[in-house]
Amino acid sequence: MRPIGIDDIELATAHHVVDLSTLAEATGTDPNKFRLGLGQDQFSFPAPDEDAVTMGAAAAAPIIERCGTEGIRTLLFATESGIDQSKAAGISVHKLLGLPSQVRVTEFKEACFAGTAALQAAIGIVSRNPGERVLVIASDVARYELDSPGEPTQGAGAVAMLVSADPRLIEIEQVSGLFAADVDDFWRPNDSTTAIVDGGLSVTAYLDALSGAWDDLQEQGGPALAEIDRILYHQPFTKMAKKAQLHLGQHAGEELSCDLPEIGADGVARVGSQDAASADRQGAAGEAPGTPRDTGLATSTLYNRRLGNTYTASVFAALAALLDHDDDLEGRRIGFFSYGSGSASEFFTGRVLPGYASRSRRDDVAEALDARVPLSVEAYRALHSTVLGSADDVETPRVTSAPFRFAGVKGRARVYERS
Ligand code: CAA
Repeated sequence: MRPIGIDDIELATAHHVVDLSTLAEATGTDPNKFRLGLGQDQFSFPAPDEDAVTMGAAAAAPIIERCGTEGIRTLLFATESGIDQSKAAGISVHKLLGLPSQVRVTEFKEACFAGTAALQAAIGIVSRNPGERVLVIASDVARYELDSPGEPTQGAGAVAMLVSADPRLIEIEQVSGLFAADVDDFWRPNDSTTAIVDGGLSVTAYLDALSGAWDDLQEQGGPALAEIDRILYHQPFTKMAKKAQLHLGQHAGEELSCDLPEIGADGVARVGSQDAASADRQGAAGEAPGTPRDTGLATSTLYNRRLGNTYTASVFAALAALLDHDDDLEGRRIGFFSYGSGSASEFFTGRVLPGYASRSRRDDVAEALDARVPLSVEAYRALHSTVLGSADDVETPRVTSAPFRFAGVKGRARVYERS
């Protein structure tokens, strides 16, 4: 059977950034609580003319430019921050990208898990018709109430992936471990713009789901822990990935390195004392006996500690960070743990293909993250409190420098345009 997996990947951020040191100062919090306690430095925040649609389209546009539209007959849009109860956000993206009419478009929902559900559905479609390619977009705005424990774990961003046969980046392997449980750890009622969360329960529910999905992976004949070279986790805040790594190591009986990046005096996160790529080269050369095995945890957090929680996109933003910073991945097996509150989760694996390193987007991602426009805490909180209804026609101010924008509401329908 032909290999099927991720052929191309691209990440997009929102226009603004909130630095957590400024939030710490404004709220009288020790900045180390955010930086070390949660493992977060910043979060992206959307301009008034941005949402999950505009970020998703921004992530997908470069893929369409590079790879064309031939064979793309399905667009799957995964989000927790959907913009309509009925119409799929992907329909607006389909138009913004100028895709042909002959495309199956739909939206996937199950909190942060939906991106993985869409990826697996895409693989199923390509297995049936290997000549087809599927565009998978995971895009979210993570919003919690102001002054709640979740506030510093907000974020915004999107990841787009092209799924195809004979992919150039990662072949996704067949066996998956699954786990579902009805748990009220995090949810967002239809009439609420912010998530409701039981923080403590959400952390234990995540870890229970991790061991449940791992056990199922083993029962299904998946690889043992020692056969997985790198491990990526859903990262609602990057310290959660550290908790997950510790939990998995204890559960599966192997000591794994739980180090997150070091924070330099300049406030910049680095992997060890070196740049990320050379640190990973060293790890691959073999650790000293007795040293916990390095599975790329620190490297995989480099984007998410600056983006914040991107819900459906988070585990794929971790993948993008790994692909962009680890130059010794060829032939290596990556494990992915995807968790969606509520809850549904999956542990699956993939093999990195030769030539992946030549497709690094490292400089572009760094440039996009650095180009975000900082918001003062007052300005961010004012934006957070501005919730646009759909009852009246409204035009949004022109703020974003992204390629697409949310122009406003007309006749109760959302209007999107090229910037
Ligand atoms: N210096 C260093 N560390 C400090 C510190 C300081 N001055 N002050 C506190 N800390 C540490 C604490 O020791 C703690 O560390 P551990 O977790 O290792 O014990 C950490 O900072 C967090 O502090 P608190 O325990 O006081 O917790 P909190 O009240 O800040 O809440 C939270 C943390 C529950 C995660 C909250 O941010 C939250 O509700 N977030 C949203 C929900 C969430 O992300 N859940 C994750 C699992 S669910 C999921 O994954 C789906 C999803 O995307 C939402």
